[in-house]
Amino acid sequence: MTGYFVTFEGPDGSGKTTALQGILEKLPVAAKRSLLVTREPGGSVVAEKIRKLILDPVNTTMTDRTEALLYAAQRSQHVTEVLKPALAADKVVFSDRFVDSSLAYQGAGRQLGIAAVKEINDFATQGLAPDLTILFCIEPAQGLARIKHERPGQEDRLEKERLAFHQRVYQAYLALAEQEPNRFVKIDASQSPAQVVQACLQVLKNRLPQLFAED
Ligand code: TYD
Repeated sequence: MTGYFVTFEGPDGSGKTTALQGILEKLPVAAKRSLLVTREPGGSVVAEKIRKLILDPVNTTMTDRTEALLYAAQRSQHVTEVLKPALAADKVVFSDRFVDSSLAYQGAGRQLGIAAVKEINDFATQGLAPDLTILFCIEPAQGLARIKHERPGQEDRLEKERLAFHQRVYQAYLALAEQEPNRFVKIDASQSPAQVVQACLQVLKNRLPQLFAED
């Protein structure tokens, strides 16, 4: 099996992280040996430290550009320390968020511009791009309501943003998916958690049948 890079993207409260757990439970044991699961912001010691800094609700004075650079910084560390070595070792890599999150959240949400954010991320990733991106589609109002229900009073700095911010993020994701229809596969994340897991497994079976081979 050659290395293959899958990213999971979507607005806050789209259930990506829970679905990822569900997917892992359903994969054959053999698949788990060739799989590396990681996340952003984070995924390495240095990157997890940057994550804490970015998401801490006390950091109310952080500028949008600082935020964008910190996301790119943690990504650079993640790419070099975790993603590239795993792909070079022919692993299938699942990452909960990657560059598209920065394009959507910082580029569109914070209105820094997709092109500017892409530029700093090209520097950070040194050209590493996903082979497949599963986009969890859900109206932001519904996603935010889920977070409020599941973790009342515990929103992080990004989740605390206004609905208009999250709507810009979601629209940007949809536009990115339009631009790269071969890389993006959209799934309906407003379905039940079990249905969302099934939809993801179906996409993975189509793209990566070797992951489902029992041996
Ligand atoms: P996290 O708790 O990991 O949320 P989720 O389960 O929704 O992924 O927090 C990540 C937050 O950081 C989320 O609000 C999206 C945001 N984010 C960006 O704004 N830009 C980025 O480049 C990344 C990776 C995440």
